[in-house]
Amino acid sequence: MCYGVFNDGQLFGYYLVHFEGVQPNMLPRKAQLDTAALAKCAVISSFLIHPDFRGRSLQKKLTEKAEIEAINRGFLHMVVNVRSDNKFSKGNFEDSGYINLNPSKNSTRRRIETYIKSLI
Ligand SMILES: CC(C)(COP(=O)(O)OP(=O)(O)OC[C@H]1O[C@@H](n2cnc3c(N)ncnc32)[C@H](O)[C@@H]1OP(=O)(O)O)[C@@H](O)C(=O)NCCC(=O)NCCS
Repeated sequence: MCYGVFNDGQLFGYYLVHFEGVQPNMLPRKAQLDTAALAKCAVISSFLIHPDFRGRSLQKKLTEKAEIEAINRGFLHMVVNVRSDNKFSKGNFEDSGYINLNPSKNSTRRRIETYIKSLI
């Protein structure tokens, strides 16, 4: 599902969420989810707010919307991958209760970190 954020008919942000579950290799081993739980993971796969509209907590608000939609569809977890140097996005997910499954030990090496939140 793709959420668009509009101002006077102009798109200034979007949020793409998949409600299909995940494959075991999509999560770090630390997640320790069984097959049934993997099928109940929704994934925030892409999002962007135009620079002119940043600073209004839209990422947090859209994350909440996505979580409510996931709960309504019977999903148990929300998963999101964030680049290790994306401090704004990481901070927002951490504030929203997401757990980093593979935090970077070396802050200079850019990599993907996987966040998860239980929706129940
Ligand atoms: C991540 C993102 C969606 C956050 O946007 P947002 O919800 O508007 O951010 P917030 O409201 O939490 O912003 C909090 C503060 O950080 C600032 N900020 C947020 N993202 C910023 C960015 N990429 N560069 C500089 N400052 C940024 C805001 O201006 C605000 O500052 P203020 O408190 O002084 O006003 C946005 O930065 C973005 O679209 N980035 C590019 C795409 C991206 O990184 N996607 C994630 C892929 S993993």
